[in-house]
Amino acid sequence: MNFRTLANVIVIGAQWGDEGKGKITDLLSKSADMVVRYQGGVNAGHTVVVNGQTFKLHLIPSGILYPDTECIIGSGTVIDPKMLLNELDQLELLQIPTQHLLISETAHVTMPYHRLIDQAAEQRRGNRKLGTTGRGIGPTYADKSERTGIRVLDLMHSESLPDQLRWTIAYKNVLLEKLYDLPPLDSEAVIDEYLGYADRLRPHVVDCSLKIYDAIQHRRNILFEGAQGTLLDLDHGTYPYVTSSNPVAGGACIGAGVGPTMIDRVIGVAKAYTTRVGEGPFPTELEGEVGTLLCERGSEFGTTTGRKRRCGWFDAVIGRYAVRINGMDCLAITKLDVLDTLPEIKVCVAYKVAGDHCEHFPSDSRQFTLCEPVYETIPGWQQSTEQCRSLDELPTAAQDYLKFLAELVEVPIAIVSLGASRDQTIIVEDPIHGPKRTLLYPNLKEG
Ligand code: GDP
Ligand code: IMO
Ligand code: MG
Repeated sequence: MNFRTLANVIVIGAQWGDEGKGKITDLLSKSADMVVRYQGGVNAGHTVVVNGQTFKLHLIPSGILYPDTECIIGSGTVIDPKMLLNELDQLELLQIPTQHLLISETAHVTMPYHRLIDQAAEQRRGNRKLGTTGRGIGPTYADKSERTGIRVLDLMHSESLPDQLRWTIAYKNVLLEKLYDLPPLDSEAVIDEYLGYADRLRPHVVDCSLKIYDAIQHRRNILFEGAQGTLLDLDHGTYPYVTSSNPVAGGACIGAGVGPTMIDRVIGVAKAYTTRVGEGPFPTELEGEVGTLLCERGSEFGTTTGRKRRCGWFDAVIGRYAVRINGMDCLAITKLDVLDTLPEIKVCVAYKVAGDHCEHFPSDSRQFTLCEPVYETIPGWQQSTEQCRSLDELPTAAQDYLKFLAELVEVPIAIVSLGASRDQTIIVEDPIHGPKRTLLYPNLKEG
């Protein structure tokens, strides 16, 4: 199916990240003129598999594999220049053109002290640690809020950067030495290193909001690619076990610098089960044999840190919450194939909290840690789905499972993914031009 006609869509993770956003973004990028990453940094790890070749992207949007699709790293992201240049080098080695990558001049820069502070702070937290990726993300966003951050713009001003860095590093060295008992950074070495990075990045740096507005005025299709997932959102996730940005759909407007009236569709991506990396509550987590099976069949190891992902059953309470918080129009369900061998599958339809039945995600994190899943068990299909290319070709039990999920979360499933490659996909309905969610669910209409 070709999705080409005008629309601006946001693709977001509906769980705790690693839902397969990279695969779905790559798939939809075929019809996009521009792909914009709007938050997060090199904590993200998006995997795209094309013709058997695997691309692991951290900061560069998953649209990069299409030479005619402009790719933007937006203002709401945090950019680690060293890692970004590494990523560019890797792509160039694979002969993937990268001149169509643009970087926002107002994005903040992750500096060496951010990474050191992230890792040292995690150590200091002891058993209260968050399980961060250790990539300096929290400290970079903290400096942004504290208004002491270095922006890409600052990096480009080679005449004023040395003084700005000398001042900032002197300040950070106090923290490193006195609070974390670490050696201070040599500011002159950091200045030299970052002036070098600035020179290499300069040709990519633009006013992204202006670029995006111009594209909208020329009626081009834009895809906004979320990193992380709804439950890792700083405001709406399982705080404090979250990242430091806003992966939810609303974050796209701020992080890209576009108004909400410019957005046509929000597409959520969720696994047919659930995973989580790092610390924090996870009601449907499976620690036994089935958890191990999901981890092994799903190759659930972090793209960024290589950590083993925690695995559990699909949680429809979280699914409904993600639909609400993101104003989601439809869902892409990934990794259905991972469930192929199971004789039965459980789905969490509600929680029990201190004896009370609860159908909504509790905003109080303490309450969330007490939630016990209420499961419904449905039969598995115990046959391979990897070669199926239409809903009809799926075993009946797999079709029933998808129908059940859609009913529970109250949005249609537009895409089903059955493997990492582009062709292992079923397009159930056009995710971009299919009916708006409000037209499908009468309970959402007036009255
Ligand atoms: P992202 O962070 O949301 O982009 O997801 P990741 O790339 O970190 O993790 C998803 C992993 O699952 C990647 O290794 C993908 O190649 C893989 N993947 C995506 N969709 C499917 C699918 O439908 N089935 C299987 N078996 N693997 C998939
Ligand atoms: P993608 O885009 C899964 C998790 C970390 C940790 C928490 C905070 O690939 O889905 P941070 O380093 O951001 O301060 O860590 O967030 N986390 C992710 N988990 N996928 C990601 O990105 C993640 N990015 C951060 O494991 O629990
Ligand atoms: Mg990932």
